[in-house]
Amino acid sequence: MSGSEKRTNRLREGKADRRNGSDRRTAAPGRATAGSAGERRSGSDRRDDASWQPLSIETGSSPSDSDLMLVAAATDARTRAQAHYSGFKVGAALETADGQVISGCNIENATYGLTLCAERVALVKALSDGHSIFTRIAVVADTETPTPPCGPCRQLLWEYCGDIDIILGNLKGPTGRLRLSALLPMPFDRRLLE
Ligand code: THU
Repeated sequence: MSGSEKRTNRLREGKADRRNGSDRRTAAPGRATAGSAGERRSGSDRRDDASWQPLSIETGSSPSDSDLMLVAAATDARTRAQAHYSGFKVGAALETADGQVISGCNIENATYGLTLCAERVALVKALSDGHSIFTRIAVVADTETPTPPCGPCRQLLWEYCGDIDIILGNLKGPTGRLRLSALLPMPFDRRLLE
């Protein structure tokens, strides 16, 4: 069983939150002192915390034809991913208010740090073509566990798209949907600059 499958199973079985309050305190950033293995857990280990399960990804209802179409566009874009370093190909498809679909794929390069995620590629393509109102975005990777937009993508999607629907999918089709506000519940945005 792969790491991500194990994690998914733990989340499904509700096994992630068996630790008591004082155990959880040791996991808080900044509290770690040299000592137990628990205090030395890295950021990625902390994803096993129940606090990592903020999503109520809606998986129950069957996807609409337009969801299927958007996921298909993201799946197609994924085939053009330039993921030479991570090998992790992602496709995205952003829908405009007038029903147009602008797709993107992740584009990596030798500096690693200048990697462009599929979501941001779709967004900057759309903005530079003059689109300004968006309704949904589909994100597709070849994983069982849904791949949600990363932090910087959440910020930019919030800034330019508002509280859009995010449809997550894999190569078999849509796996769930949620609103961007569920992923970015306390956004920093231009309202705070006024
Ligand atoms: N990636 C995306 O394109 N979108 C996501 O939502 C998550 C991550 C890309 C960035 C990088 O090229 C690769 O996936 C591995 O992180």
